[in-house]
Amino acid sequence: MNTLFLKPASPDDKKTIDKAADIIKSGGVVAIPTETVYGLAANALCPEAVKKIFIAKGRPQDNPLIVHISRFDEIYPLVKDVPEKAIKLAEKFWPGPLTVILPKADVIPDVVTCGQKTVAVRMPSHKIASAIIRASGVPLAAPSANISGRPSPTTAEHVLHDLDGKIDAIVDGGECDVGVESTVITLCTPVPRLLRPGGITLEQLRETIGDVEADRAIYDPLPEGVKPSSPGMKYKHYSPEAKVVILKGALEGFIDYVNKNGDDTSAVLCFEGEEKYFSGTVLTYGKKDDPSSQAHEIFNKLRLADEKKIKKVFARCPSESGVGMAVYNRLLRAAAFTVEEV
Ligand code: TXA
Ligand code: MG
Repeated sequence: MNTLFLKPASPDDKKTIDKAADIIKSGGVVAIPTETVYGLAANALCPEAVKKIFIAKGRPQDNPLIVHISRFDEIYPLVKDVPEKAIKLAEKFWPGPLTVILPKADVIPDVVTCGQKTVAVRMPSHKIASAIIRASGVPLAAPSANISGRPSPTTAEHVLHDLDGKIDAIVDGGECDVGVESTVITLCTPVPRLLRPGGITLEQLRETIGDVEADRAIYDPLPEGVKPSSPGMKYKHYSPEAKVVILKGALEGFIDYVNKNGDDTSAVLCFEGEEKYFSGTVLTYGKKDDPSSQAHEIFNKLRLADEKKIKKVFARCPSESGVGMAVYNRLLRAAAFTVEEV
């Protein structure tokens, strides 16, 4: 398949937006930019189109997709009920990097939710994503536009690297702002539960709707045989080819450890300004006390490690509060939960 590369001059570039929307309307799959990461979009109401997403990504058949809308009203036909808490969250955080899980309406095909009775809904703030949803006239099912298991794509080049020849088109909207996937919260548990941390923090969710619990799978590998609340959490994720080791502790300990254990096939993944302490391959991901800057860079740098054919990455441990929770969660999975105290 020839993958069409589309670059809208702006979100108002109607001709290019319509081209992407036409492909979606005729049952194709198109990678689109969002404020979090690039998504691989298809008509959520068309099972045949949605199946193509799973095939292109090599996505496991039991990992459900997020459905994207462009206006709040569009949620009503997709779910059984829109509770007060969903409205509060939407008022505060939509459009933006938050996904809300609610009981699904019959119109959502089983292939989208992998047979679950719930559906994940998100309203992205990226102007091009929004324009494409509107022009398509249907909700769009879209997982991250990477090959399953690889770090999520934050540029059109990342998407091209993974999916060129496997999808109908890519819409280039430049670099994604947030850099990690949306925060996922379910309102289908007795107490609302955070399933995946992201750009909207646990603290912000609690300020808006009161009690929210954090799912245990955010920080811990699931024990054998335990069913995850969110199927995506059981898979090894976000992984570069390189083995990643997170080193927890002060900079001095980190430097010592790397000097003892590093070689010319390894790389250091540290914060800006710390490069001077290391020789060999040094990658930085944001500023030490600025988790948003780390989120923006993390996937990009994990991919860069692969481009440089690095075998082992020694990563500085991010702080776990605020957006740092999302950064740490992604890094933990990239590292298959390998953390060493230094
Ligand atoms: O920022 C994002 O959310 C991006 C952009 C493209 O919108 N999308 C994204 O999709 O990250 P994906 O498919 O890579 O991640 C969706 C996550 C998975 O972990 C999946 O298991 C979970 O959401 N999920 C989707 N529907 C669910 C449901 N009904 N119940 C529980 N978890 C669900
Ligand atoms: Mg994904």
